[in-house]
This record gives sequence, structure tokens and C-alpha cells, in this order.
Amino acid sequence: MANPIAPVTKVSDKLREMLNDAIAREIGVSIQYVWQHVQVIGVKGIAVRNQFKQTAMAEMKHAESIAERLWYLEGIPTTKPAPITVGGSLQEFLEHDAKAEEEAILLYKKIIEQAMKEGDITTAFLFKQILEDEEEHHDLFTTMLEEV
Ligand SMILES: [Fe+2]
Ligand SMILES: [Fe+2]
Repeated sequence: MANPIAPVTKVSDKLREMLNDAIAREIGVSIQYVWQHVQVIGVKGIAVRNQFKQTAMAEMKHAESIAERLWYLEGIPTTKPAPITVGGSLQEFLEHDAKAEEEAILLYKKIIEQAMKEGDITTAFLFKQILEDEEEHHDLFTTMLEEV
């Protein structure tokens, strides 16, 4: 474990890689959700399209916050998105999105655990805040899925 009273936080390559996985995910879903906003069809699609856009913007802000943290930790933030799955219907959009949020929640819990193990309280705190947003997104998509 890192010295808990050192003024500057040093972290492992493992944690830096996890932060880059998180950035790739955030960039990926940001594109995924905004493309869904563009590609919606039908009355129901039009009714909810802004939800996709707003969520996409929140994800890009997550990407930025994590990139800033990684840069501070002497890592180079990736520009490559994780695989993007847009889908061909509102039902498919929402299924892909709920799954993406579930995967993010799992990864971010692991990041919080790893960061705490390394004495990196700030990264753990950042991911606790982001985790709260992802749980809200998951709730939004699964609620929308209840009646498509
Ligand atoms: Fe996010
Ligand atoms: Fe999210």
C-alpha cells in the first residue's frame, strides 16, 4: 500500500490501465447514446430521444474527469472508444444501454476497491460519484425498457 500521508499520490500500472478502460467505456457510450439520439424512429423514439442525448453528455463529462485524474497520475488517457453497439430499434437501444451501464457499474466498483487498496482516496471518491450517475442511468434505461 502507498504511504497514506505522502503529498502526491502514486498508483500502480494496473490502476492506470483500469482508468483507461473506464475512459474507453465512457467515450464509447457517449458516442453510442448520441447516435441513438440521432437514429431514433417512431413516436416513442421521438418522445425519449433527449434522454439519450443528455445521458451521452453526462458520459463525456465522466470521460473528461477520469482523463484529468489519469493525467495527474502520470498516465496518458486513451482516445479509443470501447466497442459501440447502437442497435436497430428502441428496444435494442435500451437493451444495449442497460447492459453497458451494468458493465460500467461492475468495473467502477472494482476501481474503487483497487484505488482504496492503493491509498488513492481521490480516485475512489471520483468513482463513487460517477458510480452514482451510472446507477441512475441504469435505472433510467431499465425503467424505459419496462414499456417500449
Ligand atoms: Fe459514465
Ligand atoms: Fe452511464
